[in-house]
Amino acid sequence: MFAKLMALLSKPVLNVQSTVDTHSLWDDEHISKGMLNAHLNPAWDAATRNHAFIDTSTSWIAKLAPPPQYAKLLDLGCGPGLYAERFAKAGYSVTGVDFSKRSIDYAKEQTERNGSGIEYLCQNYLTLDAVQQFDIITLIYCDYAVLPITDRLTLLKKVYQALKPDGKFLFDVSTPKMRRAESRSWLLCESGGFFSEKPHLLLEAVYQYDDDDKTELRQHVVVTGEEVHDYRVLDHYFTKESLESEIQPIGFKACEFYGDVAGKEYSDTGETICGVFTK
Ligand SMILES: C[S@@+](CC[C@H](N)C(=O)[O-])C[C@H]1O[C@@H](n2cnc3c(N)ncnc32)[C@H](O)[C@@H]1O
Repeated sequence: MFAKLMALLSKPVLNVQSTVDTHSLWDDEHISKGMLNAHLNPAWDAATRNHAFIDTSTSWIAKLAPPPQYAKLLDLGCGPGLYAERFAKAGYSVTGVDFSKRSIDYAKEQTERNGSGIEYLCQNYLTLDAVQQFDIITLIYCDYAVLPITDRLTLLKKVYQALKPDGKFLFDVSTPKMRRAESRSWLLCESGGFFSEKPHLLLEAVYQYDDDDKTELRQHVVVTGEEVHDYRVLDHYFTKESLESEIQPIGFKACEFYGDVAGKEYSDTGETICGVFTK
């Protein structure tokens, strides 16, 4: 145990497998429960944004890409369907994709209950295989930025292929203003907590890297009586210019930038950027 911990307390080398199993935040039985609760709390900006923002955001998107012209909408990383339900209400024919079984199970229950007719797929969106099927594809809450560059390029090609001509890809990212300082901290969770229902020690760190992709790594090491789990989240930060130069070569013919996915005016000093790329 001690040797394992010592290894985990050093700054990880990027792309090198952890000395203990790395776990997915999204699929863990206990964590996904907390994640769903965080999504469903209308006032929180945690797993999703607060629900008033989601209302404003979906209304703005429906004005930007009106359902009569952009009928078929694909929501990538749809979570429990908070945006998807509102998109359906606005008049889109909606497909939602997410690889969290707990979120998709909840989303399916909701669409059945509401009669909103949303199709949900429990799938990794990097394996998407649609061809010219959608008028608009959304990826909301800065999820594009957690992917390393190889996966971002894979996703962009798949999104481009899945869009009909003149279709739109709408997503948001954080700007360098949101980059965290390197840090290390620990917390004793005697009655369990977000990462485990068992009493545990939580060792958290933020690391910055000087690789080409300027990666940020957030590490959460969870030590219980019996086990050590290592959860890692990557992040990347974009300017308007870096986003445009990454995405334009895929073939999109036009792009527009906003300050967020609710249509705020773009500003050089903003915390997020919403990009809308037209095929
Ligand atoms: C931060 S949440 C945002 C959910 C939703 N877009 C919202 O804003 O309410 C990210 C979601 O993306 C999903 N996700 C992350 N990576 C994914 C992938 N590669 N394939 C499918 N879903 C993914 C997670 O399961 C999670 O539900």
